[in-house]
Amino acid sequence: PDGSGQRRFDELIATDSRIEPSDWMPAAYRKTLVRQISQHANSEIIGMQPEGNWITRAPSLKRKAILMAKVQDEAGHGLYLYSAAQTLGTDRDTMFENLITGKAKYSSIFNYTTPTWADMGSIGWLVDGAAICNQVPLCRASYGPYGRAMVRICKEESFHQRQGFEILLELMRGTPAQQQMAQESVNRWYAPALMMFGPPDADSPNSQQSMAWKIKRFSNDELRQRFVDMLVPQAEILGVTLPDPDLKWNEERGHYDFGELDWAEFTEVLAGRGPANAIRVSRRRTAHENGEWVRAAARAYADKQSADGQS
Ligand code: ACO
Repeated sequence: PDGSGQRRFDELIATDSRIEPSDWMPAAYRKTLVRQISQHANSEIIGMQPEGNWITRAPSLKRKAILMAKVQDEAGHGLYLYSAAQTLGTDRDTMFENLITGKAKYSSIFNYTTPTWADMGSIGWLVDGAAICNQVPLCRASYGPYGRAMVRICKEESFHQRQGFEILLELMRGTPAQQQMAQESVNRWYAPALMMFGPPDADSPNSQQSMAWKIKRFSNDELRQRFVDMLVPQAEILGVTLPDPDLKWNEERGHYDFGELDWAEFTEVLAGRGPANAIRVSRRRTAHENGEWVRAAARAYADKQSADGQS
């Protein structure tokens, strides 16, 4: 009430120190962190589905083992992030409930389908590549538990990105049909991957405040530009074409120019009308319901432990 909490908070932010769970923080800071971290956790959990789709059909035992490990990593990322959100006083059951009832957001990218094996390559190269670009700066997010969770997540993401690149590289060194499958997959994932960074800065209601609070360190458009600049030389190594006729080097800016994205499509996906929104949420709900016996057993065990402890 004397304003000392706010002063201390402002000082921690100004000196690039970390806010920890027991520190005083403005209600709006807490709220925006719960929003972003829970959406991020949900994305990791829903993100297991497009790749889970290929585990039984991976083309070799080695690829299958790698894909299983990667999908398991995503489950782990989701769990760290739910834990980070819980330190802000939000409970996990509510976050799960909001996800399976379709109330909570998760990344637009996971509402696209994976019809071919090459999509495992594109997800690794483009989707995880975009995730790294977005998440490396989040390792310095002002909220301690979020920033620390991101450090480990980014290490794992960089392995994911390289395995995707390697899948595409192998396909591009293969038969004409394999090359075509890789190119078609890149054509489908490129623009949705660029949309992962969120709306253009002018239409991003949260960016300014999140940057002032040092949760976000760069704007959506800055990170999108960084990603495009990074992709072009990698696409050259792969021998794939990025599907944008307006993509070209701008000497003056020292960056690649690129074409306008289809923001109407982005809005549709966010509104729940993307190619796979319905199936993603319903699968998650079914998985949650099928897991009820595990939760019941864990509860019964915990109850028995505490009853034993009392006697
Ligand atoms: N998919 C779904 N929703 C999105 C997306 C997207 N690609 N981009 C923005 N939005 C939503 C925002 O959540 C926000 O909605 P809300 O206010 O209801 O929460 C709205 O669109 C407006 O966007 P911004 O004001 O730009 O929102 P914000 O400042 O939170 O920036 C961003 C969005 C960049 C995604 C940020 O939240 C972030 O960095 N999140 C952490 C990273 C993350 O979630 N990654 C998930 C995918 S990567 C992976 O899981 C492998």
